[in-house]
Amino acid sequence: MDYVNTPAVQSAPDITSMPRGGPRASCLDRLLETDRQEYLDREDADERVKRSVIRALQWSGETFGHQNRFAEIALAEIADVADPTILELGAGHGGLSRTLLDWHPTAQLTITDIASASVAAIAATDLGTHPRATVRQMDATALDAADGEFDLAVFVLSLHHLPPAAAARVIAEGTRAADKLLIIDLPRPPAPLHLLRLATMLPWAPLVPFVHDGVISSLRAYSPSALRALAAAAGPDIDIDLRGGMFSPQVAVATRR
Ligand SMILES: C[S@@+](CC[C@H](N)C(=O)[O-])C[C@H]1O[C@@H](n2cnc3c(N)ncnc32)[C@H](O)[C@@H]1O
Repeated sequence: MDYVNTPAVQSAPDITSMPRGGPRASCLDRLLETDRQEYLDREDADERVKRSVIRALQWSGETFGHQNRFAEIALAEIADVADPTILELGAGHGGLSRTLLDWHPTAQLTITDIASASVAAIAATDLGTHPRATVRQMDATALDAADGEFDLAVFVLSLHHLPPAAAARVIAEGTRAADKLLIIDLPRPPAPLHLLRLATMLPWAPLVPFVHDGVISSLRAYSPSALRALAAAAGPDIDIDLRGGMFSPQVAVATRR
C-alpha cells in the first residue's frame, strides 16, 4: 500500500524518515533504532518461533498484570457507553479481548490481527465461539470497517512494528472507524537510560526469541514527540492525548474533532 499518498496523510509533514525518537531526536537516540525486523514480522521466520513469542507475550501480560491494567484503561475510555463495540487490532493471542469480555457484561468485541496464524489460533480458543465476539483477520492500516462503526479501537504493543507512514495510517484509520483509538505501546526512555536497558537485554537476545523481539521492539518504540508527529501526519483534525511514564507503557488516545 502507498501509505504516504493516501488522502489522510497527503498534506502532512513528511514523516517517512522520521526517527523513532521524534523529529528532534538526539544523535544518541537516533543511533538506538533499527530496521531489523522482529521474528513476528518476518515471513521467513519459523512459525513455531512466532508462536513462542506470542505465548510469551500472553504469559508476561497475565503474570505482570499488564493485561488487567490495559483492560482498565480501555474500559475507562468507554465508561459512558452502555453497550460498547470494541475493535481490537493486532490482538496476537486475544488475552486483552477475553478480559474485556469477562469484565464488561454487554461489550461486543471484534478481535483481529494481520497474521492469519494468530487469527486461526484465537478462533480455536473459547473466543471463537463467544456470543459477543467476532474473530477475523484485519490490517490495522486499512480497516475493513465503516466510518464510526466502533466506539473504541485498541492497538496494544503493536504500533512500533510499523514504520512511520504506516503507523500514521493506523491513527487515521482507527479514528475513522472508531470514536476513539487507544494505543498502548512500549516506552522510549531517554537515550542513556535506554542504552542501559538494552545492555541488560542484549546477552539474552540470541538465545530467547521473546527477548530478541523485545530488543528490536525497544529500538523501534516511538517517543511521545514521535507519536504527536504521527498524529499530525494522520490528519489535521486529529487530537492525541498522551500519558505514560519513562519505563511504564505509553498510553495515547486519538480522536477526531
Ligand atoms: C507484539 S504483538 C502484540 C500482541 C498483543 N496485542 C499483546 O499485547 O500482547 C504485535 C502484534 O501486532 C500484529 N500486527 C503487526 N502489524 C499489524 C498490522 N498492520 N495490522 C494488524 N496487526 C498487526 C502482529 O501480527 C502481532 O500479533
